[in-house]
Amino acid sequence: MLKGSIIILDFGGQYAHLIGSRIRRFGYPSYIYPCDIDPKKLKGVAGIILSGGPQSVYEKGSPKADTGIFDLGVPVLGLCYGHQWMAQALGGKVAPAKVKEYGRTSVRKSQIANRKSQIDLFQGFPEVWTVWMSHGDEVAELPAGFMRIASTKDCVNAAMMDSERRLYGIQWHNEVTHTEHGMEVLKRFAELCKPAQWSIKSYAEHVGAQIKKEVGDRKVFMLVSGGVDSTVAFTLLNNVLGADRVQGLLVDTGLMRKGEVQMIEEAFAKLGIDNLHIEDASEEFFRNLKDAYDPEEKRRIIGDTFLAVQKRVSEEMGLKMEEGWMLGQGTIYPDTIETGGTKYADKIKTHHNRVEAVQKMIEKGLVIEPLKELYKDEVRILGEELGLPHELVWRHPFPGPGLGVRILCMGSTEETRSKEISNVHIPMTNAFSVLPIRSVGVQGDGRTYRHAIAVFSDKPTRITEALLELATQVPNGNKEINRVLLCTSQSERVEFSVTPGVITRERAELLREADDIVLQEMRTADLYERIWQFPVVLLPVGIGRGEKGQSIVLRPIASTDAMTANAFLLPPEVIKNITERILRLPGIDAVFYDLTNKPPATIEWE
Ligand code: XMP
Repeated sequence: MLKGSIIILDFGGQYAHLIGSRIRRFGYPSYIYPCDIDPKKLKGVAGIILSGGPQSVYEKGSPKADTGIFDLGVPVLGLCYGHQWMAQALGGKVAPAKVKEYGRTSVRKSQIANRKSQIDLFQGFPEVWTVWMSHGDEVAELPAGFMRIASTKDCVNAAMMDSERRLYGIQWHNEVTHTEHGMEVLKRFAELCKPAQWSIKSYAEHVGAQIKKEVGDRKVFMLVSGGVDSTVAFTLLNNVLGADRVQGLLVDTGLMRKGEVQMIEEAFAKLGIDNLHIEDASEEFFRNLKDAYDPEEKRRIIGDTFLAVQKRVSEEMGLKMEEGWMLGQGTIYPDTIETGGTKYADKIKTHHNRVEAVQKMIEKGLVIEPLKELYKDEVRILGEELGLPHELVWRHPFPGPGLGVRILCMGSTEETRSKEISNVHIPMTNAFSVLPIRSVGVQGDGRTYRHAIAVFSDKPTRITEALLELATQVPNGNKEINRVLLCTSQSERVEFSVTPGVITRERAELLREADDIVLQEMRTADLYERIWQFPVVLLPVGIGRGEKGQSIVLRPIASTDAMTANAFLLPPEVIKNITERILRLPGIDAVFYDLTNKPPATIEWE
């Protein structure tokens, strides 16, 4: 497997798998290993990429690779932290940068006199181009044998190479789409490694062999959530192990989208897959969630209830874990990094397939996750390769806890919270209200839990540059705010008050209807496939007209990998249609449009 592949050594940032997925898309095999892997295990690899990471190389306990990797004689490319670690490990110096660079920066190619070799990652590029940086340290002194190949205004050694040993270090992130020529740099590096070929077909074979090895003579009990990932994983397990060694269970949590369970049932029926049992456990979910307000608490309850139902149903079916059965999960890579699954990463949200009980089962070798090395786009390609219908596989991602993380909850005592925030600084003349509700965001590599503000405009369905600007500036300038919304149902300022509520069947039903309206409008406007994902969120706040009201947030997303995201801009007439239709739902008295990017907000609200 390792032979001829490009290995990413993971220093704990969020980027290792993004790099890996890019390399695979060029058609080369790529696998990720922890940075401290023994170099002896890497014999035969074609090249190595050292990923970024959030720490400082000179900090005690910061992640390190074994310098033996340089004796393998293969090309090595260090990116960000990887660049710094390489410089330090080979005798250069790393120090805190005088000016820390975050975001877009211009980089300039160095004039290289007496070029020893023509191997240059930037050949043919313009003199200056834009890259995406995120660093507080810099390479202050190059190691012996290296030359500088690019600089920025504030970072002299932004890129370096030792072309004889084929070692390269680059401070900026080439793997993100905001970096110009980033993919080209990765591709050139990959090509000079002369790697073997990779395709989704051969990957499926590799995973197939791995599944057989891991499962041995056991059988797999697979929880199918209804989302793309578990559907693909279930189909793959069926293909590899055969239907008689796999049993699927779809738990209807009461928190799924409208018509979803039926759609999945029909798709499997068409494929001839009939080993999926559907259990309506909605009553149990609503019961267990009846006192839950906090996002992490809700995730934990939903995860634990999943497991309890799975245990009960599997016992009813006579399947015993540890007695010849394992649990299958559709976990994909982004699920694992955001929980701090990688040794050095910070925890932002707990994914349901990484709650404590599952973690314990993983430690006992009772869980199989055949897609855990894949990015979303690769899962979809694999799904089509396995014969799943296009519409099913290319559905928008939907979180495991379903509508559970889109129904915000609040008790009556929390009503006063927004009043604590009195001095929000808005750099414009717009009227605004601080919403009495908080949501999760991400900043640096850490989690935030802050308020949203609603901005009012006399053209409430038009998203202007000025509003988008505001959505960046307000969270930057106000420690208590991580989201900026446009109120699309109201042009004049109103105060919002809390309508206390937890997750109930009625609220789930209401959100399902709103979600379905959005879906229909996206299909009508032919926008569905252009949008990465479109969470629709139910807030327990309203303007208190007549009955106590609630509101809906529209959160259309433009993204390529869910690691970073921008608000997708819908045409005003589409916003208007959706707003009008949603306002007709019982008890909904306001509609908002979430304009915030990720970071500082996350895609989901919780
Ligand atoms: P955030 O909200 O962290 O979401 O920006 C990133 C991507 O992950 C999805 N997501 C989840 N998926 N279980 C899942 O399976 C979860 O608990 C969960 N939380 C978020 C989210 O929909 C987006 O695609």
